[in-house]
Parts: sequence; structure tokens; C-alpha cells
Amino acid sequence: MSASFLQVPASFDPYALRSEFPILTRKINDRPLVYLDNAASAQKPECVISAMAETMEASYANVHRGLHTLANEVTERFEGARKTVAKFLNAASEQEIILTSGTTGAINLLAAGLGQGLQAGDEIILSVMEHHSNIVPWHFLRQQKGVVLRFVPVTDAGELDMEVYGDLFSAKTRLVALSHMSNVLGTVTNAKKIVEIAHSHDVPVLLDGSQAAVHLPINVQELDVDFYAITGHKLYGPTGIGALYGKLERLQSLPPWQGGGEMVQSVSMDNISYADPPHRFEAGTPPIIEAAGFDAALKWLMSLDREALGEHEQMLLRHVETGLQEFDDLTILGRASDKAAVCTFNIDGMHAHDVAQLLDKYGVAVRAGTHCAEPLMRRFDISSTCRVSFAAYNTIEEAEIFLSSLARVREFLQ
Ligand code: ALA
Repeated sequence: MSASFLQVPASFDPYALRSEFPILTRKINDRPLVYLDNAASAQKPECVISAMAETMEASYANVHRGLHTLANEVTERFEGARKTVAKFLNAASEQEIILTSGTTGAINLLAAGLGQGLQAGDEIILSVMEHHSNIVPWHFLRQQKGVVLRFVPVTDAGELDMEVYGDLFSAKTRLVALSHMSNVLGTVTNAKKIVEIAHSHDVPVLLDGSQAAVHLPINVQELDVDFYAITGHKLYGPTGIGALYGKLERLQSLPPWQGGGEMVQSVSMDNISYADPPHRFEAGTPPIIEAAGFDAALKWLMSLDREALGEHEQMLLRHVETGLQEFDDLTILGRASDKAAVCTFNIDGMHAHDVAQLLDKYGVAVRAGTHCAEPLMRRFDISSTCRVSFAAYNTIEEAEIFLSSLARVREFLQ
């Protein structure tokens, strides 16, 4: 391995950045925490924590409803978060950004709205590599409406089979809903091509960007995607908040999901009219404190050199994948040509849960299980896997600790 291979890009310093994350000083089982479960949820920088605390300490009230100073301040802050999301995704306007409880909330909102216009026999294209949050809401429509779900297969390398994808369209296809990056395989799907093909059939596209938005700059206008979902807690922000981007004309024709305060224009005893997007989709008191944290997290991420960050994460990924090749009884799942900072593996004869629990003894946090992707587990005829996933604050030394700890765990379990 050449020295340059291990070099951290000049404009990116993960060591300096670590001091912004209070939790990274923790010890787990008397060892320094090596947090490699970032695809499940990333840790939070100080600016996110203080933005949330400051909102509660100095500027808290309900949003959109008040005429007093605090209500106005916090409304401005909340709407500021929407503007930040629009900038983060390069949306044409903040009207195209619905603040949701996360990706799951975003996809359920879309499924419930679109579902109202669907009929038995209408088709939705998904893929075998989707997270359950982009499968189950569509299953609801299968059960309730008789909608047919069609799945793009995944190749042995862990890529979408794009030839079959093109063949799945029919006159009844109403939506394509695909992952922009697999949470298990790390595969970055060819979003531009997915959208181009769908649009050539006049079919709109939803991309699940839960993982992709963490590792790649997202430009929804360039992708020309119709809907894009993200979640705050994977983006170094808080839980309980995320966003659904939708092209304005799509949102204008989408019926509301949940009913309640703030999503109406007018309500009488026998009539109702709805607010314009995005407020039509935000019934009830929204996640106000979380929006302050989400805003801070996205600003923090946008302040980094994202190209250099991507290179850093790729360097960690390649280092770990190269190190894992030393284990002759280990299989890496996912060999896509375009792959982001996730590495999933199994060791012959060892249960993924045992491996993860023993790694914890060395302070190393990884995820094990089905990763909420059971169809993908079935595709590869496995019941679970271990997964390491990298973030901006991970270092080459941590990758080394993971590899040496895994060697000990493997020895112990043999
Ligand atoms: N979707 C999250 C993961 O992949 C929870 O771990």
C-alpha cells in the first residue's frame, strides 16, 4: 500500500474536526470509542447541540402562530432551517421543502398522498436493495388499493440491474422509488439515469437520499428528480427531523397526509380548504428544536470541503476493504463500482451479532443484523451481516483498531 494511498486530503483534517464532537472522548469498556456505526446514526457536533439548547434557553415558543417576540424569533429560525435544506439540496425554492420527522415520515407522507390517486393494478417500481422505509409504505398501498410492486433486481456485485429496470415500465407505472445509496451495500445508484429512463416513460421518481446525502453533494435540479427524502440524524443533526423535497408542481397536486393545525386555509363545519405547500403537509406543532439542530448540522456539513471529505471517506473504505482481504474466511457484500463509505461483511461460521458484540469489548461500535433490508438479505441468501460505516471524524488509526480488533474477535470465535 503506497503512503499516498493513506494520505488525508490536504484540505480536510479529521483530527481537528474530532474536537467538535464531545461524545468522541468517551471510553467504552476502558478503550477509546471507535464509532463506526454512522450509517445508522451519526454523532453530533457541538454547534448542533448548542443550537438546540440555545433555542430552548433563549428563543422558544410555538411557530407560525404568535404575534409576540419569541414566537416571531423562533418562526424565523424554523423557516431558516427550511431555507438551509433548500440550499443543501439546491432546490429552486424553500416552498419545495417539507420538514418531516425523517425519511420514514417523508416516504409515508408521499405514499399516503399519491396513494389517494392510485387504483388496483397501478404499478410502483422499487428495488431489492431498498431499506424497509422505502418498501413498507408502498406495501400499504398494495394491501389497501391493489397496487402492484415491481422490484429491480440486484446483481452479484450489488448494483441495480439497469437493463431489467428499463423493462419494468408499463402503461400502468405510476412511480419509481429507489435508493440513491444502499445502506447495506454502499452502492451509489445511477440517479441521473434512473430519472432519465423514468421520465422517458412520464413517470416521476422518488430517491431515498438517507445515506447518499451524507456522502455526496446533492443537486435535485441537476438530477431533475421529482422527490428526494433525507433524514437529519444521519447528517450529524438530531433525530425526529428530516425533509421531503418535491418539485413545486408535484407538491401542488399532492393531497395532504395528516390533518390538524396549520395545514389548512380555512375550516368550517362542512368544508375545508388546504394551505399551499409546504405547510399543507406539516400538520400540528412541528419539531421546532430539532429544526434548529438540523439547520446547524447542514450548515456545518456545507462548511466542509465536501470533495475532500468524500476522498477521506473513500480512503478509509479502501483501507478497511484491503485489510479485510487478509481474512480468507470473510466475504464483503457489495462490490459496486460506485460505492460510498459503507462496508458490509460476514465471516464464515460466525454470527454477525456475536462479532458486533465482541467488537464492542474493544470499544468498536458497528452494526449487525438485517439492516432493515430483508429482501436484500434474501437475495444474497444470508440472515444478517456486520457493517462498518464511516463519517467525517473517523481516522485511519480507527480503521486500524477495527481491523486488529476484528482479528482478535475472529480468533476468539474460531
Ligand atoms: N437505516 C439505518 C441503518 O442502515 C438505521 O442502520
